[in-house]
Amino acid sequence: MPIIFHEKSRQFHIYNEYISYIIEIMENGELGNLYYGKKINDRESFAYLHQDKERSLAAMATDSQSNLCLQYTRQEYPSYGRGDYRYGAYKIEQENGSTISKFEYVNHSIYAGKKSINPLPSTYVEDEEEATSIEIYLYDKIIDTKLILTYTIYEERAVITRCAKLIHKGEKPIVLANAMSVSVDIPDKDYEMIHLSGAWARERAVKIRKLEQGIQSVYSMRGASSAEHNPFVAIKRSHTTEDCGEVYGFSLVYSGSFLGQIEVCSHDTTRIMLGIHPDNFSWRLNQGDEFQTPEAVMVYSDEGLNGMSQTYHALYRNRLVRGYWRDRERPVLLNNWEATYMDFTEDSIIQLAKKAKELGVELFVLDDGWFGTRNDDTQGLGDWYVNKNKLPDGISGLSEKIEKLGMKFGIWIEPEMVNKNSDLYRTHPDWILSTPDRFESPSRYQHVLDYSRPEVIDTIFNMLDRLLSDSKISYIKWDMNRYITECYSRSASSKEQGTVMHKHILGVYELYSRLTTKYPEILFESCASGGARFDPGMLYFSPQIWCSDNTDAIERLKIQYGTSMVYPLSTMGAHVSAVPNHQVNRFTPLQTRGNVAFFGVFGYELDLNKLTKEEQEQVKNQIELYKKYRKLIHEGTFFRIQSPFESEDTAWSVVSKNKTEAIAVYYFKLNYANAGFVRFKLKGLDPNKQYQLILNDKECIMYGSELMYAGLPLDRNKEGKKYGDFSSLLFHIKEVR
Ligand code: DGJ
Repeated sequence: MPIIFHEKSRQFHIYNEYISYIIEIMENGELGNLYYGKKINDRESFAYLHQDKERSLAAMATDSQSNLCLQYTRQEYPSYGRGDYRYGAYKIEQENGSTISKFEYVNHSIYAGKKSINPLPSTYVEDEEEATSIEIYLYDKIIDTKLILTYTIYEERAVITRCAKLIHKGEKPIVLANAMSVSVDIPDKDYEMIHLSGAWARERAVKIRKLEQGIQSVYSMRGASSAEHNPFVAIKRSHTTEDCGEVYGFSLVYSGSFLGQIEVCSHDTTRIMLGIHPDNFSWRLNQGDEFQTPEAVMVYSDEGLNGMSQTYHALYRNRLVRGYWRDRERPVLLNNWEATYMDFTEDSIIQLAKKAKELGVELFVLDDGWFGTRNDDTQGLGDWYVNKNKLPDGISGLSEKIEKLGMKFGIWIEPEMVNKNSDLYRTHPDWILSTPDRFESPSRYQHVLDYSRPEVIDTIFNMLDRLLSDSKISYIKWDMNRYITECYSRSASSKEQGTVMHKHILGVYELYSRLTTKYPEILFESCASGGARFDPGMLYFSPQIWCSDNTDAIERLKIQYGTSMVYPLSTMGAHVSAVPNHQVNRFTPLQTRGNVAFFGVFGYELDLNKLTKEEQEQVKNQIELYKKYRKLIHEGTFFRIQSPFESEDTAWSVVSKNKTEAIAVYYFKLNYANAGFVRFKLKGLDPNKQYQLILNDKECIMYGSELMYAGLPLDRNKEGKKYGDFSSLLFHIKEVR
């Protein structure tokens, strides 16, 4: 059992081969944290790791002679106001106006496996042997409320998951004003914070800053996890690199507003918290009511950022993503968005599809514009039935025609939204989230449907169900193109308005759940104006997510590099698009556009009929190459080698689990006259294995040690002569047998 309770010392040791996490029951009955980090040997008591001290101005936690002072000791799920002046992990407003609470240990239960927290998404096990869990039961007797803190440690992974649940027993209602999923106190502050932040079309840029006394945070109050900040924070030592040194990652399995906050206190303790954003959140608990927080996933690595990412990748790929498509090879797709936008006819779509089939595409995706009166983005959202003016035989007729060509067919939907110019809005104007008497802020001419209302979800489900049962649809791109404003539900009472943002996301999960349960073989790709909801909550329902509306290969290097901090390649939608690129007007060689999109879930998003014969031939070869290696790319171990955030060039690779094969790419950004030499040092190979590869058009054989430590000598000027700027070199490396 990797979770031990030491009766005498009243300490819990949660550990496996890689990590230890130690909790104590403090003398006042609350939980303290003694250690989190690399595995340490077990012993009866780690009491020596408890540090606190009576200092001037300190308020004490007991009347006894002890020094227990909450401000200066490390805690497990702390509350504000009884001596700890830092931000608490939760806040409970009581009928008498007090917000003071104190949860004391009652008992606990340790069991094999991991429970689901349905309807919230979470990581899972397939076999009870894979993980051990502990639920620690705590109780506040004044308000008669129970708190359950749940921890799961995976046997074979450096992962602990956490969540909290409150169960209210008391007669007088309470209001939960904050409930974080995780709070961890670490004993020093010599760390840098890493987060993935940006904006539309430049999502998940890697940001690193030194921790300082006070608060540093990332957050979304947008009702979606957002393009601006990803629900992830990590702390690393300043000397930690991609390949060595300590890093602690915290990732939230949630798609709504969140807060990731790091507080360094006056005495250098670092408190990391992650959970639902407390603004716009308040949850009333009457007698018998419960509140469950989302799950947070903590990963520890002493093998640098690559080590952390590889742990997240393996967990999310195999124990967060679910269903039919989890382990299946994903089809190469062609999406018509950047080829036609909404300006298409059935004939132009068929012409595009024919060419796609000829070049090896396996799935044709019809994007926005096929339904209602959707000829531009001012209208039609909410009317999920076919526009017969555009598609005379409907989606069912078109889907049959595409299937006859020998390809699968998929469509775009945006089920959470409505245009005012739609039948749905005209029938149900009160179904949007908006505050009475206030201006209803439009965004892309659309409004957010109130998914806290079951009848809204039912109506959308029924429309989509009719469509899906009538047609041959194998794939759905589920888009979401605006954030929530004027958050207010016409069906909720004034006291319930603080629940609406969270209930809305639960409603989104419910629709996903109903559709994926009824249509388990449909491949879902989540999307939100590109990558504005690229989060673990979405991955529980859709095995892949469109990374960004920015399809420029050079910009994508940063986006995909940043995304890979947490998310596996098998989840990142990545397409080759036209030149000049539609977002930045850049001309990038087709070869490099392919070499970037390969490192994701590969597809095309351009008019293939407009390519020259040579380019079409090149596309055919790219598709063949991808089909050959997609299993390796999606299931192998990904290594970031050179960061586009720190240098001009970028490099990365994927190595098969048994280290017999790898795919590696070096991307040159700009070319220079008389440029210096370049050395491409690979990672993750077996130093003693001999590998074969093509270098400078010649086949050669090299030891893994040569490839990793001496590296491949590359010539920027040679590649540059061929392409100018933005060239790239892809290497397939295979063990010599
Ligand atoms: C935003 C998406 O990210 C695009 O790929 C495209 O589907 C448009 N929406 C369609 O409106």
